[in-house]
Amino acid sequence: MTDEIERLRVELGDRAYEIVVGPRLIESAGREIQPLLRRRQVVIVSDETVARHCLPRLRDSLSEAGIAHHTVLLPPGEETKDLDHFGRLAEKILAFGIERGTMLVALGGGVVGDVTGFAAATLLRGIDFAQIPTTLLAQVDSSVGGKTGINIRIGKNLIGAFYQPRLVLADMSTLMTLPRRELLAGYAEIVKYGLIRDVEFFAWLEAEGRAVCDLAPAPLRRAVMTSCAMKADIVASDEREEGDRALLNFGHTFGHALETETGFSAKLLHGEAVGLGMVLAFDFAAHMGLVAAEEAERVRRHLNEMGLPTQLSAIGLAGIPADRLIAHMSKDKKVRDGRITLILPRRIGEAFVMKDAPLGELSDFLDGAA
Ligand code: NAD
Ligand code: GLY
Repeated sequence: MTDEIERLRVELGDRAYEIVVGPRLIESAGREIQPLLRRRQVVIVSDETVARHCLPRLRDSLSEAGIAHHTVLLPPGEETKDLDHFGRLAEKILAFGIERGTMLVALGGGVVGDVTGFAAATLLRGIDFAQIPTTLLAQVDSSVGGKTGINIRIGKNLIGAFYQPRLVLADMSTLMTLPRRELLAGYAEIVKYGLIRDVEFFAWLEAEGRAVCDLAPAPLRRAVMTSCAMKADIVASDEREEGDRALLNFGHTFGHALETETGFSAKLLHGEAVGLGMVLAFDFAAHMGLVAAEEAERVRRHLNEMGLPTQLSAIGLAGIPADRLIAHMSKDKKVRDGRITLILPRRIGEAFVMKDAPLGELSDFLDGAA
């Protein structure tokens, strides 16, 4: 990896924070975190898999900076984002005798980040937290922007808070131990940025996507930085998703329906669901005559070439009745007065919010989707 470290800010007034992107950042985490502390005490929250790869280096770095630290480890996987695990996590953190000046440090993927962020938002009515994302998905999306939360049986992320971290350290070196399938799932979220806002970035990904996923340092850093810059810009202008931030949910309404159908399990990772959801959004827009069919085909081709699932048949859902998927889509957080909101493309590089998706057309389209 090249040693270049890049920084950018999420401009949110007195809650602004830095995103730092580069190799071996865990080794300097103590130095980065120390100036932000109100008390020299942090609680690291991680999962057992990530801990094996990254925890000793983080602990050493905190010790070198004179920061006292405790650790709580969670089981890896989406199941950890539930009320039971959250309750136990909260009790363990509180048992360390934390104060309002204590900082939580989330070391892991989106699951650890979301649940730790929610703990930070709620324990003692709010304490600081930092994100050290270790999956590609978390580095380009979930660690930035302050969406925190947990799942309940009725649906995903239905309990949560907007609560911004004080710092994001995206250590590219951590990705070397990430399984290829998880990397590709994160890559789908990178493609999302090109599709909603930047056709040139998408074209660059068509050429360099393989290098990004092979962790070539310069392309990887450019992909992470471009993604974070776009997310930071959108979050700064619409923190609580009253406008443009909804565009970041491109592919998610279809994707969540697929995740619900596959039980939020390893059968379909979140990023894979978003990738296939983006293909469906393009295909549906083409079906409605809103986007050229060639554009939809170009998106499918790229994701397919990268090795992501791009057909319902690839995830065992060929022939699934449209009604089932629409019922899942009706539970989306963007539903208003019972109407489904979809993020749809106008072309590659431009998306818009459709507030009242025509259910007849959607049903015809989904019945024909393979
Ligand atoms: P994850 O946190 O479950 O991590 C995926 C797997 O990779 C886990 O088994 C984990 O133990 C392992 N892992 C993590 N880092 C590793 C490393 N460096 N080396 C080896 N293994 C490693 O999943 P994810 O894809 O990072 O995140 C998905 C979650 O993020 C979902 O719950 C989703 O809802 C949430 N999310 C939140 C936001 C947001 O804005 N808050 C945005 C997108 C997704
Ligand atoms: N991942 C969507 C958002 O942060 O708004």
